[in-house]
Amino acid sequence: MSKEIKNVEYGLEKIFEGAQDFLPLLGTDYVEFYVGNAKQAAHFYKTAFGFQSHAYAGLETGMRDRASYVLKQDKIRLVLTTALKSDSPIGEHVKKHGDGVKIVALWVEDARSAYEETIKRGAKSYMEPTVETDEHGEVVRAGIYTYGETVHMFVERKNYTGEFLPGYKKWESDYNPAPTGLKYIDHMVGNVGWNEMNTWVKWYEDVMGFVNFLSFDDKQITTEYSALMSKVMSNGNGRIKFPINEPAEGKKKSQIEEYLDFYEGPGIQHIAVATDDILTTVADLRSRGIEFLSTPPQSYYDDVPFRLDKHNHKLQEDINKLMSLGIMIDADEEGYLLQIFTKPLEDRPTLFFEIIQRMGARGFGAGNFKALFESIEREQEKRGTL
Ligand code: FE2
Repeated sequence: MSKEIKNVEYGLEKIFEGAQDFLPLLGTDYVEFYVGNAKQAAHFYKTAFGFQSHAYAGLETGMRDRASYVLKQDKIRLVLTTALKSDSPIGEHVKKHGDGVKIVALWVEDARSAYEETIKRGAKSYMEPTVETDEHGEVVRAGIYTYGETVHMFVERKNYTGEFLPGYKKWESDYNPAPTGLKYIDHMVGNVGWNEMNTWVKWYEDVMGFVNFLSFDDKQITTEYSALMSKVMSNGNGRIKFPINEPAEGKKKSQIEEYLDFYEGPGIQHIAVATDDILTTVADLRSRGIEFLSTPPQSYYDDVPFRLDKHNHKLQEDINKLMSLGIMIDADEEGYLLQIFTKPLEDRPTLFFEIIQRMGARGFGAGNFKALFESIEREQEKRGTL
């Protein structure tokens, strides 16, 4: 397995050499889900993941067609939005895709310029630059489509001091479960259709000025049944990382293909959130009812010391604790990382979360993919979709 890690092609230097600065990104601003029932979804993300009530917009704030709940945990902002009437693009989105990520919003210094520069390079418009104001100042937002019906929204908030966006009020709740130690979004992965990965890699290069800094082919990420190809796209300062997956031919149906069938098209597959104490975070999440993919077999954990040794790293955590929680370990030249994947968070086998703690490694767990896929396949088998 460590051989597979070695085969991964690193090109970090390219981030700084090759990336273009026509689209400076300050970070992820928010992630907006379109869901069937935002009130209940908000309760779930508070109870199970420890997100905090932050802001709200709906009938009470003058919004007539939708309700949105904004949840926060450290630097992560989730927006859960639902339609209030049947005649709504939000409702249509949910009908087709189920609950899922509609908007990956990126924090920028200048939303107009971000929009113009990306449109000039071939982006399809979702929303022209729009100024929203209230007593706290103004926010400029503009959006472009990426794969499927997913949108990148550019958010300029340097002249705004309010909670979230104009139109939202502070959401004060009497129900405030404690946070679980989730800090920031490490990366967000998209699944695209057969033979579409390179189209979208080129789109991120040409339209967004991103660079491809890691690639995994189907020989690296394959099990007896399933295969996928993945390329990691990063912006110039490395703050935004979007790996892109496409299915590859295996003996049976790839998990990427299963996603595409049930989401009915390309979309966000998983959101990886960082913690600096994965043992505590995962124990907490488990106690709150979050279900994770089944723990890799003992043989996987027996192999871990050798995989770390190859790169001269020493595991600081107790391996038995990691095993009892089902946390996986991967290593590269720079360090190691700890990660675990939830089961899909809705009935359609689509979106899931990853919890990740980086101990120096900048990779994405390629060495774990095989172990991971085997455990995903055990779940697929139960669903009869393998
Ligand atoms: Fe990931």
